[in-house]
Amino acid sequence: MRRLNIELVKGDEILARSIYTSTNNILLNKGVQIKKAYISKLKELGIEYIYVDDELSKGVELQDFIEEETREKSKSEVKNVLEKFSAQNKLELSTLVNSADEIIEDILYQKEILINITDIRRKDEYIYGHSVNVCALSVLVALKLGYNRKRVKDIAIGALLHDLGKVLIPNEIINKDVLSEKDKEEIKKHVIYGYEAVKDESWLSPVSKVVILTHHERVNGSGYPFGWEGEKVHDASKIVAICDTFDALTTRRILNKPSKVYEVIEYFISQSGILFDEKILKCFINNIAVYPSGIGVLTNENEKGIVLKQNKDFPSRPIIRIIEDSSGNKVDDWREVDLTKALTTFITDTIEI
Ligand SMILES: [Fe+2]
Repeated sequence: MRRLNIELVKGDEILARSIYTSTNNILLNKGVQIKKAYISKLKELGIEYIYVDDELSKGVELQDFIEEETREKSKSEVKNVLEKFSAQNKLELSTLVNSADEIIEDILYQKEILINITDIRRKDEYIYGHSVNVCALSVLVALKLGYNRKRVKDIAIGALLHDLGKVLIPNEIINKDVLSEKDKEEIKKHVIYGYEAVKDESWLSPVSKVVILTHHERVNGSGYPFGWEGEKVHDASKIVAICDTFDALTTRRILNKPSKVYEVIEYFISQSGILFDEKILKCFINNIAVYPSGIGVLTNENEKGIVLKQNKDFPSRPIIRIIEDSSGNKVDDWREVDLTKALTTFITDTIEI
């Protein structure tokens, strides 16, 4: 199985993962053959990638760190709740506790694997997919840091609701292509709006509330709303800050192209102890597959390959299959290279194949 850019889909490919609508119904089932007529429809729906099974990707181990079903169900629950939410109507927020529980269960079950980026998101459901991803990533980091179940759950719920306040900002501002300084200031208020909306809710823990309020604070005091520094910022918020930034940068936003995982990790390393907490960042980076399985890669020897599987303790050195030699010729006899053994070979970039 591998991820294929919708622009490179020709028709006849076999779908390896079902494609869902924003209401959690299956649009196309896995196993179906993509007909040419589907391609423009998928593009229209804002789908940028699909997963396909083909000869090239035979043997690729691609496992999401939460079950596809949990991800889709949580997304549609978050969508449901956030769509109905207003400053007056907060009744349904607590139903998200179940989603948080399911996400935690999934991760407890699968926590030995590296996080592979496998989510495919429609443009119009960015905020819902984002909330679920930030929650799942935060849960994994919190578990790896050895937090107890209660604390993990508080962080999970805070992460699911971290951008709740954005619902209270007018859509004209949220959807603008170019933001004025005034718009930016208004968007920054989402942390206050979100916190104000939930501060008296007794079912929500103080940790979850503090995540909503301070997930944009940064270690050096350059964040908002208070500009708090270092230890003053709660660790739960520091976790969500990293996961929020990671997901935002690796997903296409309205104007920007998505960054590659290794680019985001390079950025994180440059900001370790400056914007982001050093210890939490180290834990995060140790658990992210720098080159996700099923992705095309270029090596320093100018060969092209596909990432077959991950080496758990070496997130930047997976096992790859060479499919094209340095002169650009397709290789008939595919060669597998384990980058934990071939120490002079390394990946220089990820490519579409
Ligand atoms: Fe936010």
